[in-house]
Amino acid sequence: MSKPRVWVSRPVFPDIVDRLRDVFDVHAETEERRYSSNEIATRLADADAAIVGLAERIDADALAGARRLRFVANLGVGYNNLDLDALTAAGVGASNTPDVLNETVADYAWALMLAAARRMGEAERWVRDGQWKGSRFEGWLGADVHGKTLGILGMGRIGQAIARRAAGFRSPVIYHNRSRLDPAIEHECGATYVDKATLLARADHLVLVLPFTPANRHVIGEAELKAMKPTATLTNIARGGIVDDAALARALADGTIAAAGLDVFEGEPQVHPALMALPNVVLSPHIASASRDTRRDMASLAVDNVLAAFGQGPHAGRPPT
Ligand code: DGY
Repeated sequence: MSKPRVWVSRPVFPDIVDRLRDVFDVHAETEERRYSSNEIATRLADADAAIVGLAERIDADALAGARRLRFVANLGVGYNNLDLDALTAAGVGASNTPDVLNETVADYAWALMLAAARRMGEAERWVRDGQWKGSRFEGWLGADVHGKTLGILGMGRIGQAIARRAAGFRSPVIYHNRSRLDPAIEHECGATYVDKATLLARADHLVLVLPFTPANRHVIGEAELKAMKPTATLTNIARGGIVDDAALARALADGTIAAAGLDVFEGEPQVHPALMALPNVVLSPHIASASRDTRRDMASLAVDNVLAAFGQGPHAGRPPT
C-alpha cells in the first residue's frame, strides 16, 4: 500500500521533517516562496496532510479539490491564516504550535520595547551612517523602561510570560483581556486587571498580544492612540491588522505617542511607507519566535501533530491542540 502524502510548504529543518518519512511520502519544499491560492489548492489536491506557514491561507478555495486531505499543521501559534469553518466543513483537522514559543516571543517583546524606548534603531542607523563625530550630553534621550508601568493588551500565555519579566525591571504591570485571569495567575505575573481605557491612559509602555480576529481588527486606531500618554511606546508582536498602521504612523509623526516597536504589519511583508520613513519606530520582519531552539521546537511539534493525527509518533491517540 502506498504511503499517505504530506506537503511541507516551507524549507523546515530536514532532520525534523525526516521523522515523517517512515509513515509519509514527504513532499517538502526546498525554497521559501509565496503561493497563490491556486498553487496551494494544487498542492493540497494530492496531499493527505500538510504543514504550512502563516503566509499560506487555507480556506474553502484552497480546500476545494483536497479530497484526501485529513490534517493541516500550522507552523505558528496564531492561526488566522486557517479558515476553521472551511476546514471543519471539509472534515480536515488542524493544529497550531502553542506554548513552545511563549518565552522566546516574550523575550522579543521586551527587546522591541526596550529598543523603541531607548531609540536603538535610530542610534544604530546613525552610527552606521558615520555620523558619530562627538557626544552630546543631552543627545539621544529616550524613555526609561525600569520602574515604568507596563501595559499588556491580551493576557494569554505569551502575555503572562511578558508580565513575569517585569519583576526584574521593577515595573508595575496592568493588563486588559477578554476575561480576567484567575487571581493566582495574576499574583504570579504581578499583574493588575484594568479596563481598556485605563490601560491606554496609564501604560508607559503598551504591548499588544492579541490574536487577530475580525473583532480585533484596528483595536488600536486613532482614538486609542490619542488616549495614550505622549511619552508612551507601543509594541506589537501579535499580528498586523490589530493596529491601524496609517493611524499609528500619524501618531508617531505628530507626537501623539513617543515611539513604537513593530514585528508585524497590515499586509506584511509590505510595510506602510509612512512607517518606513519615521525615525521613532523599530521595524522587524515578524521574527519574534525566531530563535534557533524555538523554531526547531515549533517544527517538531507540527511534525508530532501530523504523526498523531495519523495514529503515529509520541502523541499518537492524543488529539493535537
Ligand atoms: C506565531 O506563532 O503565531 C508567530 O507569529 C510566529 O512567529
